[in-house]
Amino acid sequence: MTDAVRTTLARLETYLADAAARRRPVIAQPPIAELRARLGLDALIREGGLEARLEGFLDAHLAAATCLQHPGNMGHQVSVPEPLAAAGALLDAVTNNPMAIYEMGPPAVAAEAAMIGWMLEKAGWAEGGAGVFTHGGSLANLTALAAARRRAAPEAWAEGNPPGLCVVAPACSHYSLARAAGILGLGARNLVAAPVDAENRIRPGALAAALADLRAHGRTPMAVVANACATATGLYDPLRAVAEVCREAGVWLHVDGAHGASALASPKLRRLLDGVEMADSLVWDAHKMLRAPGLAAAVLVRSAADLDAAFEEEASYLFHAKDQPGPDLIHRTVECTKAGLGLKAFFAVAAHGEAGVAAYVEGRTALAAEAVARFRRAGFAVAVEPESNIVLFRAPGDDAHQLALRRALLAGGEHYLTAAEFGGRQWLRLTLMNPDTTAADIDALIGAISRDRAA
Ligand SMILES: Cc1ncc(COP(=O)(O)O)c(C=O)c1O
Repeated sequence: MTDAVRTTLARLETYLADAAARRRPVIAQPPIAELRARLGLDALIREGGLEARLEGFLDAHLAAATCLQHPGNMGHQVSVPEPLAAAGALLDAVTNNPMAIYEMGPPAVAAEAAMIGWMLEKAGWAEGGAGVFTHGGSLANLTALAAARRRAAPEAWAEGNPPGLCVVAPACSHYSLARAAGILGLGARNLVAAPVDAENRIRPGALAAALADLRAHGRTPMAVVANACATATGLYDPLRAVAEVCREAGVWLHVDGAHGASALASPKLRRLLDGVEMADSLVWDAHKMLRAPGLAAAVLVRSAADLDAAFEEEASYLFHAKDQPGPDLIHRTVECTKAGLGLKAFFAVAAHGEAGVAAYVEGRTALAAEAVARFRRAGFAVAVEPESNIVLFRAPGDDAHQLALRRALLAGGEHYLTAAEFGGRQWLRLTLMNPDTTAADIDALIGAISRDRAA
């Protein structure tokens, strides 16, 4: 194994150096049939022998990989992993201590407990709170809503949902919430649109009226979801005001901080989540702004009993009297086998400590503001003043032209960006995840767009 690992590490060193020096494209997207053939995947599955062909395989694989470490990567909300965290992922892969029960991975549980403790402290829930890492923000949102349902309708687990149960969230919320409503048997249509302003932020005054109206029509809002921050715009809902409305109405407040909760580590940016301590649950992805490799998403609750009650289960081979020098986590997760997610998150954060997290989040947020200034100078439109590292902008031209620009930029291999709809129009979207992306890369992007327009 060691030779294979050494070979892989050497190839990865070259990959990272090439990425930083822009000696390879940020994105290539060869057709899958061609890629399968080039990598020899189907023959290798049948015949084996990968180790003998590892070098060629790695070269072909890395040549086609979407290169997050390239400074032109401004694409998706996926971490550019802290390099040390890759060592954590390797440690987890080799030891393979799926640690939903303590006896199967004591040090991984310890790392998870320490990370969850840190996150709870940042949320203001060090006393009485609890949390668990799960495989992604989507599963974390589902877990939080399962806990919310338990409080609103304790009989639902055994008997099915009572009629009228619903969740209230801005229509722009991440699609995983509609999926969670479907999976929980509420029906995706019972994800009711919260009243929002022109920037898609919840209007707290109108929210109080909307909750009262739902009740007047025989419906039971089991949770309100607020975004911190919203996926498309990167804007934060006014958490304190929303939390006050929820408290008054006796409704669970869930904060989807999958992308933006890492601002809690920054004394400067924490204000964006002011009032989060009044919520009931919070999702915080470590594989976004904490720079852990995928996936590691924390679901946190203000009151531990809420998470303990979220699922009910029966598995005598796991749940029986045994020595318990540390906690089991299995009753808090959808998963039975669960990777050492907290370990990966720990490696990412412990590389530079919380000051390192703060500097990274602040730096990427400042770059977004800088990008907006440069776009405006170039005559581009900007959808909203950014609060995070997400920027929505448009070059002159119609909606179709924005998508055509994106296609041309990706084909060029120097710039990777996404697109999103906002206010009924198509926008180009940057998510500035890469710590090596600078204002010069924004200028290069503007230059490339301007050249495409001229062509
Ligand atoms: C606000 C928000 N919530 C949830 C998710 C889903 O997280 P994951 O991709 O980890 O499932 C995302 C993903 O981008 C998101 O932006």
